[in-house]
Amino acid sequence: MNTLTPIFPYFGGKRRAAPQIWELFGQVDRYVEPFFGSGAVLLGNPYDPHPSELVNDLSHHVANLWRSIKKDPETVWDLTTAPCSDVELRGRMRLLNEWSLPDPENLDSCDPYMAGLWLYCSCVAIKWGDPWIRRMDPGVGVKAVTYSKGKFDALVDRMARVQVMCGDWKRCVTPAARFDHVRGDGALCAVFLDPPYGVGNGVEYEDGSGDIASEVWEWAVANGNDPKLRIVVAGYEDGRELPEGWTIVQWNTNGGYGNQRKTKDNDNRLKERLWCSPHCLNNANSSVFF
Ligand SMILES: C[S@@+](CC[C@H](N)C(=O)[O-])C[C@H]1O[C@@H](n2cnc3c(N)ncnc32)[C@H](O)[C@@H]1O
Repeated sequence: MNTLTPIFPYFGGKRRAAPQIWELFGQVDRYVEPFFGSGAVLLGNPYDPHPSELVNDLSHHVANLWRSIKKDPETVWDLTTAPCSDVELRGRMRLLNEWSLPDPENLDSCDPYMAGLWLYCSCVAIKWGDPWIRRMDPGVGVKAVTYSKGKFDALVDRMARVQVMCGDWKRCVTPAARFDHVRGDGALCAVFLDPPYGVGNGVEYEDGSGDIASEVWEWAVANGNDPKLRIVVAGYEDGRELPEGWTIVQWNTNGGYGNQRKTKDNDNRLKERLWCSPHCLNNANSSVFF
């Protein structure tokens, strides 16, 4: 299957890690991604589409975008590709600040108009000291690097059967959410956990979420020995104790948003790791195995 890449770069996006992550998962029967963001890992899946996939994000804007792309992609596209003007950008940002998803629990609930505004605002930037705004400026914000209608349409097709939840990550790793009752003997569920890396790591999210990486790790360790689960957790190397049967993979990043800091080398890119549960496939083309 052809892999896709996100239509917008995202803080902590895992586009470059996706090939290694899928070598660790292999072909599975269900895929769950509780911290979806720009969707880089689901989109980077080289295998045939899963029979069932569940993704989630706490951010109303992120969840709304993915639901809207499924429900009314044309509205999202029209708004997102509108010409830029700073007056319009400021007006749209004001609207976005006052908005939240009306009924996050309802998987059909979305607002394609607001999704288009959010993607538009995420894909333009105001360059410091420059009175003009333009797409792909090297300013602050999420920027559309490669954005074409063909790519957008492929994304719409890929997302058609993916369920998008909006809320806390724990609700989509329960046995019910993993479809433990539906999957037959030996059927596998892959769970990719990419939480905010935590206070003190220089990574901040628009929703101000705090340090949840440790509770994610606790859940992963508690469930890692389940033979029906393949779990990969992303994070920075922090000297944590490696439970029996787990492995660590180092993956290569170009530094992402950390590269915007010009003052010193971005050390964080060297700290990126994937922790892999005992039932993951041990054949990832990793640069380091511990
Ligand atoms: C590191 S980013 C994920 C990046 C994603 N893997 C990608 O490739 O784009 C973490 C995401 O978790 C979301 N998030 C923060 N706290 C959360 C929570 N408690 N439950 C679910 N999602 C959360 C943030 O909105 C953000 O989109």
